[in-house]
Formats: sequence, structure tokens, C-alpha cells
Amino acid sequence: MKEELEALKKQALQELANVDSLELLRDLKVKYLGKKGPMTEILRGMGKLLAEERPKIGQIVNDIKTELQTVIDEKTALLEQKALEFKLANEKVDITLPGRHPKDGHLHPVTLTLREMKKIFMRMGFDVMEGPEIENDYFNFEALNLPKDHPARDMQDTFYITNEYLLRTQTSPIQARTMQANEPNTPIRMIAPGTVYRCDYDATHSPMFHQVEGLVIDKNISLADLKGTLELFLKEIFGSSVKVRLRPSYFPFTEPSVEADISCVICGGKGCRVCKNSGWLEILGSGMVHPNVLRMSGYDPNKMSGFAFGMGVERIAMLKYGIDDLRLFFENDLRFVRQFR
Ligand code: DAH
Repeated sequence: MKEELEALKKQALQELANVDSLELLRDLKVKYLGKKGPMTEILRGMGKLLAEERPKIGQIVNDIKTELQTVIDEKTALLEQKALEFKLANEKVDITLPGRHPKDGHLHPVTLTLREMKKIFMRMGFDVMEGPEIENDYFNFEALNLPKDHPARDMQDTFYITNEYLLRTQTSPIQARTMQANEPNTPIRMIAPGTVYRCDYDATHSPMFHQVEGLVIDKNISLADLKGTLELFLKEIFGSSVKVRLRPSYFPFTEPSVEADISCVICGGKGCRVCKNSGWLEILGSGMVHPNVLRMSGYDPNKMSGFAFGMGVERIAMLKYGIDDLRLFFENDLRFVRQFR
């Protein structure tokens, strides 16, 4: 039995010496020292031995177990150290490498333009109002002096949801909404930015686009206030060298109505393709609020007067940045959008 044990120990030590991974080491430990291992087997069979042999063999078995356990512990420490060194060597970070910057986003050119427009009007004391994109016939047309069957409705053919509800064709309904939300005759100085919808699609029209509406109502507001306000705004957004002119026009909700032009920002007024050789660019619609519009929303045209204006945000962005196709704004081609970082 002694020889058997010696041989077993020798074999175990040899196998332990060759082991090179922690998993194999664990397996060996189970194999030699585990409950089903040869040592346990031998201890269990001791009953067959002579009484005086038993303690001796027991002693030997225990010594071997201790020895093997010691070797296993040493080997475990060694392999763990090796594994750690391997990890440290392989996961080394080269701190001299240049960093990788995450791709960060930025604002869309329409948003940039809209923000700039809002900022200019807010500095002039304008409030920023909002209205629903699904609007009813009353606010989109009727309250703006466009009764049913008014021919000017044709210019803004749009998307009807029912006979009564439509996607708003302009931000002008927010004029009536703002007046009606007030006590009658309360002074107003507001802009209303937002998306509007029309059945249009070409290089300068998109079925969805953005407008900024404006409304100023107070006692004794005149066309001079309109001109001064628009001139200040246009010089802020296009540069102080820009010239502004007003032309007579027609809108159902203003009387008199005007359109504002700026001197061409591309050629400086000499005449080019963009201004169709006229030297001027049409930029917005405006006018003195029609007495009917005031009256319908509870304001007294004999006490209060006002002016209103409306302009397209994309058009202003196109002229500011020299963009020649409006559809580029909504195609989301990164080669286009990234130019506005
Ligand atoms: N709502 C007009 C349009 O979409 C623009 C406009 C013109 C707004 C004159 C106004 C205005 O407030 O006074 O074409």
C-alpha cells in the first residue's frame, strides 16, 4: 500500500509540474484531492488493514494530501500572477495616441436662421407665440377676412383633414388667436414662428415650410412703425448695408398691404440671376391690420391700430447662406447639412 501511495504522489506531482492553466490545475485538484479521488478511496478501504498499520497509512495519506495542497497553492499563485501579467501587457493603453472625438451633432440651418430671427425680435420686445398646426377654417381663413369662397384662398391650396380642419397654410391664424386670448384692445407685440403646409413642390417651394408671423397692435400704430421695425430687422439679419423698399401689394387681412424687398444680397443690387436682374429680392408680406380683422377678434379699429407681417424662414436662410434649392433643407443629405456646423 505504501508503494502504491508513493507512486500516486509521484504521478500527481508530475502532472502538477506540467500544468499551465488555472482550469487544468483546478481539474487536477479535484482528481487527486476530491471526494471521488484515490486518497479518499484509500482512506475508505483502511478497514481491511491491520490495526497497527492504520495510523501509519493514515499519516502517510495526510502528509501526501498536505504536500499536494501546498504544491497546488504555490502553483495557483504562480499562474494567477502570470495571468495578471498577461492581462496588463495586453490591455496596455498607449496614452500617446491621439484621442478619438465623438461625432457631435449641430443645429439645422433652418433652426439656426429661426433662432437668429427670434433673437432679433425678442430684443425689440416681441413675445413669441405658438398655434396649432392642425387649424380650423375659421382661424386659418375666416377670421383673417377670407370668407368662404374668397378667391385668395386658392393661392394657399392645402391639405384638408375634414371640411372644417386643415393643415394651416400660414402662421397668420395666430394673429386672431392672440387677439382673442386677450382682453379686447390689449396692446400686442408678438411673433409666431412655425411650420405651415401647402400643395407646392419645386426648387423654391416645399409642401412643409416655416414662417414667422408678426403682429403689433397699440394706439396710434402707423405705417412708419411698420417700416422702421422691418428695416431694423432686415438690416440685423442681412447686414446694415442692405437697402429696404416697400411695394404696394394685396393681402385680405391688411389694408394697405405692402411687400418688402431688400437689395440683392448676391450682387449688391447690380442685377444677377438670383434677383432676375432687378437688383431686388422679395422678402416678406406685410401691411396695416384690416379693420375687419381687428373687429372680428374683439378689437376696436377706432381705438387701436396695428401692423402685421409674415415671412418664410427657408427663403431667408437660402439668401443668407446662398442656397439655391429649398428642397436641400429636407433631404437630409449630410454633405449639405454638415456645412452649417
Ligand atoms: N400669410 C401670408 C402668406 O402666407 C404672409 C403675410 C402677408 C402675413 C401679410 C402677414 C401679412 O401677417 O400682413 O403669404
